[in-house]
Amino acid sequence: MSEPILNPFYSNVKTHNVEIWTLPGTTSILAGQDSEICSAMINNRKLAKDIVGRLSTKFVGSRLHYYAKLTSTMTVARKKASDGAPEGTVVIADQQTSGRGRLGRTWLSPQGNLALSLILKPRLENLPQLIMAASLAVVRAIKSVSGIDATIKWPNDVLIKNKKVCGILIESEVRGNTVNFAIVGIGINIDLDTTAFPDIAAIATSLTQESSENISKAELTATLLTELERLYLKTQTGTPIHREWRERMDTLGKWIEVKSGDAIERGKAEDVTENGNLILRRPNNSITEILVGDVTVLKS
Ligand code: BTN
Repeated sequence: MSEPILNPFYSNVKTHNVEIWTLPGTTSILAGQDSEICSAMINNRKLAKDIVGRLSTKFVGSRLHYYAKLTSTMTVARKKASDGAPEGTVVIADQQTSGRGRLGRTWLSPQGNLALSLILKPRLENLPQLIMAASLAVVRAIKSVSGIDATIKWPNDVLIKNKKVCGILIESEVRGNTVNFAIVGIGINIDLDTTAFPDIAAIATSLTQESSENISKAELTATLLTELERLYLKTQTGTPIHREWRERMDTLGKWIEVKSGDAIERGKAEDVTENGNLILRRPNNSITEILVGDVTVLKS
C-alpha cells in the first residue's frame, strides 16, 4: 500500500490538532486530535476543515472520517467501533448508497444532505437517553443555523411543520452490563428537493425548503456535534434532559397509532417517561408504556 502523504494545509485547526494524510485510492479524511495519524484521500477538503474548525467539543469529532460516498455511515462506524475506534469518532458521508432507517427501512441519502454516525460509549443506564440527546441536539442545531423551531415526533423524528426533516437511528452493542459502543446515526435533509421524490414528497421536507437562510452544512454539522456532546455529557453525569425533550415533543395530547413489530396500539399520547418511553392512554382508559414503535397521528 502506498505511504500516506501529509497535507500541511490542515495542521492545527483551532483546538483540534488536525493532520490530514492523503492516501491515493481511498476516500476518507481523518482529522485527528493529538497528532493522531490519519489515512485519507481528501474529497471535500474545505467542508471537512470547516467542520473541524468550528467544533467546540472535548472529544466528539476528535476523529472525523469524511467520505464522499459510502454504503452507510452506520456500517462504517460500527466497523471502526469494533476495531477499537475511540469514543467521539465521527463518520460523515456526502452520499450514502444504502442509507438505513429505523425498523428496517431505507434512508434516502443523496448529496446535499447530512449523513453522519457518531461512536459513543455510554453507561448502560444512560443508553435510553441517547435518543433524547440526539433529537434535542438536532432541534437546537436547526434553531441555531436557521432560526426554525423544529419539533420531535416520538421517539426521535425531527419535524418542521409536521414534515420530517431528520431521522435518527441508534444501534448499540451491549455485553452483560457493558455498552461496548453505541452508534448514533443522524440524517438531516438540508438541500433536498423533496417534491422530486414522490415516495416522500408528502411527508418530508428539507431545511432549504423551509428556510430563507442559506444553510451552511459545516455550521449545522459542527453545531449539532457540539450540542450532542453537551447533552450526552449531561446524561452521563445524571443531569436530566428529559424536560426539554418533552417540551419539544409535538406528539403529546394527540390520538395516535403506534406500531411495534406486529403489535398495534391506539390511544392518546399522554406523556413520556424519564427514559423516553411513551405513555399511551387506550380508549378503555387503561395505560400502557411503549418502548419502541412507529407513530402515526390519527387526529389532534
Ligand atoms: C429513520 O428515521 O428511519 C432513521 C434514519 C437515520 C438515517 C441516518 S443517515 C446517517 C446514518 N446512516 C444510515 O445509514 N442511517 C443513519
